[in-house]
Amino acid sequence: MREPLEFPLPEQLPTWTRDAEFTGYLAAPGLLRELLTELALPETATGPGHVVYGDMVFVPHAVAADPAWAQNIWRNARVVPAPSIGLAAKALKDIQRNWWAYPVRNARRCALITDKLPKVTARAQVFGQGAPTAPLGSWTLWDETTLIAAPDCASPYPDGQPRFEEDRQSAPSRAYLKLWETFTLTGVFPKPGELCLDLGSAPGGWTWVLASLGARVFSIDKAELEPRISAMPEVDHCLGSGFGLDPRIAGDAEHRVDWVFSDMACYPERLLELVNRWLAAGAARNFVCTLKFQGETDHATARAFAAIPGSRLIHLAHNKHELTWVLLR
Ligand SMILES: C[S@@+](CC[C@H](N)C(=O)[O-])C[C@H]1O[C@@H](n2cnc3c(N)ncnc32)[C@H](O)[C@@H]1O
Repeated sequence: MREPLEFPLPEQLPTWTRDAEFTGYLAAPGLLRELLTELALPETATGPGHVVYGDMVFVPHAVAADPAWAQNIWRNARVVPAPSIGLAAKALKDIQRNWWAYPVRNARRCALITDKLPKVTARAQVFGQGAPTAPLGSWTLWDETTLIAAPDCASPYPDGQPRFEEDRQSAPSRAYLKLWETFTLTGVFPKPGELCLDLGSAPGGWTWVLASLGARVFSIDKAELEPRISAMPEVDHCLGSGFGLDPRIAGDAEHRVDWVFSDMACYPERLLELVNRWLAAGAARNFVCTLKFQGETDHATARAFAAIPGSRLIHLAHNKHELTWVLLR
C-alpha cells in the first residue's frame, strides 16, 4: 500500500458551503486515497467539487451509494457562525443534544466547546448489546469562529468507530472483532443450530464467535485451529482450501447452508469468483466476507462486490486495508 495521503489545510471555505447544506465523508484512518478514488475525485486538497479537511472530504452533493471507504458520513453538514466558545456550544445544543467533535484546527478551542456540551463518551460496548439508537451529530471548527456541524450522521458511533469490551482470554485472535462489529451494525446474528462455513478460519477467532452463538461451524483452513477452538462441540475443522469446496455438493437451493464466512488471505478477485459460484448454485443464504487488499487497492473488484444486489460493502472500524462484504437474506 502506498503512503497515506495528507494535505495542508485549506484556508477558504468553498462558496457552495455558504447557503446550502453539503455532505462530508470521513475517510477510514490512513485510507483517504481510497475514499477519493471511490468518489472519483482527484488526489488534491481542493477541487471544483470537493475540499479535504483532515480525513474529511466535503462535497456539495452526496453521491448515490454510500462509499465503502467512508467510516462515517455527515449527511447534512452546514456552516454555523461561532463567535465565542459559549455561542458555539449554544448553537450546537439548539440543534440537538448529542455531539462528537472532529478536531482538526483549533483543537484546544474544540475541547473548550466540548466541555460546554452534554457529556458524550466513546464507551466500549459489550458484545450483544445493540448499536446506540440516539442520534449522534458531528462537528468541527473550520476556523476560530466558524463551525461545520452535521446533526445527521450515518453512524451512531463517534467517527463511525464502534469499540467493544474485548475478550482477550477466550478469543484466539483479534479478528473476532470484525464479526462482532458486523453483527452489531447489521443487528443480524447467526441463530443457534444454523450452519456456518468459515473459510480461512485459523487460528479460530470467527469460529469461536459463531460457536459461542450456538451455531454449527464447518471451518476450513490450510492451518489448524487452536486446539481449544476445534474442541468446541459445535465445531468441525477440515484442513484444506476454501476454494476446494464445491458449493453444488455443500448445498442447493433446498438444503443451502445458512452462512458463508470468509476471512481468507486471498486476492479479492478470487474471492469474487468463489462468491459468484456460491450465489449461482443458490447454496448459501447469508455471506460475510473480507476483501483483503495487498499493495494497490483493487477498486474494480470492490465495485463488483458492491454491485451484487441487496449487499453492502463497508469498511469496519476493525478492518485494516480491507473491506467487508455482507449479503443478508
Ligand atoms: C486473517 S487469517 C483468518 C483469521 C480468522 N478469521 C480468525 O478469526 O482467527 C487468514 C487465514 O486465511 C487462511 N487461508 C489463506 N488461503 C486459504 C485458502 N485457500 N483456503 C483456506 N484458508 C486459507 C490462512 O491460512 C489464514 O489462517
